[in-house]
Amino acid sequence: MSEAATLTRLRQPVCDIDLWSDEVLANPVPVYKTLRDLGPAVWLTKHKAWVVSRYSSVRKALLDAATFTSREGIAMNSVMNQASDGIMLLADDPEHMRLRRTFAKPLSPKALKGLADRLTELAEAQVDTLSHKTQFDAVSELAHFLPLTVVTELLGLSEGGKKNMLQWAAGLFDAMGPDDYPRTVAGLAIGQEAFAYLASLQREDMDPQGWAAALFRAADSGEISHQEAQNMLMDYTAPALDTTINGLSSALLLLGNNPQQWQLLKQHPELVPYAIDEALRLESPIRAFTRVLTKDYELEGVQMYAGDRAIMQYAAANRDERHYPHPDTFDVMRDARDHVAFGYGTHICAGRHLGKLEIQTVLNILLRRMTDFKVVGVRTELHNTLRGVAELIIEPVWA
Ligand code: HEM
Repeated sequence: MSEAATLTRLRQPVCDIDLWSDEVLANPVPVYKTLRDLGPAVWLTKHKAWVVSRYSSVRKALLDAATFTSREGIAMNSVMNQASDGIMLLADDPEHMRLRRTFAKPLSPKALKGLADRLTELAEAQVDTLSHKTQFDAVSELAHFLPLTVVTELLGLSEGGKKNMLQWAAGLFDAMGPDDYPRTVAGLAIGQEAFAYLASLQREDMDPQGWAAALFRAADSGEISHQEAQNMLMDYTAPALDTTINGLSSALLLLGNNPQQWQLLKQHPELVPYAIDEALRLESPIRAFTRVLTKDYELEGVQMYAGDRAIMQYAAANRDERHYPHPDTFDVMRDARDHVAFGYGTHICAGRHLGKLEIQTVLNILLRRMTDFKVVGVRTELHNTLRGVAELIIEPVWA
């Protein structure tokens, strides 16, 4: 960086906070506010990267994917960024759109219409197994169920990977942290196993009716390459599990802590989709991913430079009081569909309709089958990228 660039940077908002410290990961909300108030983008001396935390600045950056590229990785360390080469999130347009067209075929709202009944049937059976209990863990006994079933049954992968899938997916998200942090190191080791497993999967192992086999048929027809089909197995699995699991368990925690909102949903089940977006806004399962600038750029008055890494803090943008009045209040009547918990722009989550459908399916069943419930135990775990509870013990009042 030139001397002039260094001097300019020194005049920009700067902060020495460690975004991946235990303290911040355990209690990030006040830090989000500090960073938003410091400026649209703030230079983090500890991480040598920008953090973008305001709603307007996150959306502006994500909409300009040519300047804020994901091509050089979305993680904070180069090992993970290199290992992830090949996933869709790391492709730039127009290449990215070509891949996404094939990938997203079973995930469109129209395609998912045919899936709703099957998901309800599966989730109903799972709730049946709980319906004699006076207490259950809404994470391991409920929220895990649909995302894991989708990955094995709909994707058509063998049951073999199922038992490790959750650990692998969570490891891959931890592997995105800064170099040498213990959680990153552990995540990278686990992530390697996931990459190796998915690369080892053979076509013969896949259910011919499943989404995975459809990818290879698309490759046979020349729509994508066989390597791209193999890579997309990662796109269907790693981002599909903890995101949806945390989305559902956070929604249940918020409803448990706000019983009047639960009662409102019982009276007005048509508000369930709003409640889901509101929960995703408040407790965004993916806290942040990063981008790299392809050119010098001024983001809402802050001068940034080509080659700089910028952390897009979805979770902070979603609590920006400049955009959402009373941002820390959980209000199922709020129209929060414009949140950025799924990102924004060209890389907006390709599985968002499925994720929301899974959450909605379970919430609808619980609203029908429980008159009320109490949260009696919560255990949290710290993760580099994900936010959510690890255990949520609830005491249901069955209808
Ligand atoms: C509540 C559940 C979910 C949340 C909160 C979530 C969150 C996100 C976010 C924030 C991004 C954007 C990343 C960025 O641009 O930096 C993303 C992208 C993506 N998600 Fe999701 N996700 C969820 C469910 C799913 C599911 C179920 C799948 C797979 C079926 C999935 C697959 C993907 C893929 C493939 C991308 C990359 C899209 C692209 O590059 O075009 N996600 N997700």
